[in-house]
Amino acid sequence: MKCTVYASSEFVIGTVDKRLFGSFVEQLGRCVYGGLYEKDHPLSDEDGLRTDVMKLVRDLDVPLVRFPGGNYVSNHRWEDSVGPLEERPMRIDLAWKALDPNQFGIKEFLNWCQKVGTEPMMALNLGTRGIDEAKDLVEYCNFPGGTELSELRKSHGSEAPYDIKMWCLGNEMDGPWQVGHKSAEEYGRLASEVGKALKLFDPSLELVACGSSSSSMPTFPAWEETVLEHTWDIADYLSLHMYFRNDNDDTETFLASSKRMDQFIETVVHVCDYVKAKKRSTKTMYLSFDEWNVWFHSNEQDKEEPDWKVGKHLLEDVYTFEDALVVGCVLNSLLKHCDRVKIACLAQLVNVIAPILTEDGGPSWVQTIYWPFYYASKYGRGEVLDIRLNVPSYENHKYGEVLYADAVLVYHEEEHELDLFLVNRSLDEEMELALDITGFPATLKCIEHISLHHADLKSVNDKDNPETIKPVVKKGEIGPFIAQKQSWNLFRFSVS
Ligand code: AHR
Repeated sequence: MKCTVYASSEFVIGTVDKRLFGSFVEQLGRCVYGGLYEKDHPLSDEDGLRTDVMKLVRDLDVPLVRFPGGNYVSNHRWEDSVGPLEERPMRIDLAWKALDPNQFGIKEFLNWCQKVGTEPMMALNLGTRGIDEAKDLVEYCNFPGGTELSELRKSHGSEAPYDIKMWCLGNEMDGPWQVGHKSAEEYGRLASEVGKALKLFDPSLELVACGSSSSSMPTFPAWEETVLEHTWDIADYLSLHMYFRNDNDDTETFLASSKRMDQFIETVVHVCDYVKAKKRSTKTMYLSFDEWNVWFHSNEQDKEEPDWKVGKHLLEDVYTFEDALVVGCVLNSLLKHCDRVKIACLAQLVNVIAPILTEDGGPSWVQTIYWPFYYASKYGRGEVLDIRLNVPSYENHKYGEVLYADAVLVYHEEEHELDLFLVNRSLDEEMELALDITGFPATLKCIEHISLHHADLKSVNDKDNPETIKPVVKKGEIGPFIAQKQSWNLFRFSVS
């Protein structure tokens, strides 16, 4: 089939904030223990950090990592995770029914961030805790010295303040599963007071208020309205979370499911702008999509995992090629909404619904979903152009009309380059692309075509076959522009 891409250099959606390619490390399962940190692993460094994992994370170029939860944070005492390792307590974590040895706390996380070249995004516990503990934590982390908690930090070996800029005001507080779950009214009041205290401490801190944990929550979108009514003056971002699943092994529906993300973002933008109008405000509320991914493969095996231990095998989804196509579409959705979505976190980074898997004491390898994220992070940082596609569509029982092509065009002015990310959703037909883009040379030279393709949608990368799904890279002058059936593609055009 044919697909024509129409665009103009004049019609720009927005400039991508590099934080759109953030990720998430939760104290959950083997994300930290056995993932980032494994003291006795032969490849671990002097701090017990796995150098093989750090290399893969560095390659992904993740600019921001949210920590330490997730559901975990809502019953977490930050004081347990600082100070001499041998004095840190073993605690129960009610969120994941696990034991938490607190051997990888704030200082260890920040050290890891520095080594992989990323910035922290710290989540505060607004489940079991409140204003005092949040105030104490920022004093411990960010105050230069001369107070009890800043001196405590120094006595723990960190002379300079950590200067953490991004803070999440709780996690998924709309969810009944959350320890310390609250109504929108209760959460909105608490978040606004915690936010006020933090901004009194330092107005340059950037704060994220909790939106809904999914668009299918019964409280969505009234939750957003109430929370924003309370937090408008102190919040810089409102959060969104969404996970995707292939129910009933229905590929056509699964491949269309990024439409849910489009709808979710657009509805939240409308609610933000409604509250803005109601408040006669000039402020624009931006969005932080700080949890997203495919998540369903591990649901059954997680029920078998014994409780109350460290490093449970939880949420260890092994991703198929089909999942990589969905992740490609979801990344396109984030890019298309870059005017309002400034931050996004792929949940999560290692072992737990993650692009990277490890074996305790063994190797690490990359999953299928690593690749669309890798290329979006590498070539997605530019200006997203507003495009229209002329391409056949299919009718889906859940999402209505679905175009066979899902595409985004990113312009890099300095590099004189246009990058087209495209997923061909067709399971039967290849797609031949034509470009009709004004404002650029009439004939665009394609300098590279990178694609992910496999005949078997269920194929995976695993320890023994870590490269079953890997990018196929064609360089040189490319034409015609063909996207194979069921494929993810990046076409790089030179516009000089
Ligand atoms: O990422 C896994 C979990 O999903 C997080 O802890 C929680 O915030 C969400 O429900």
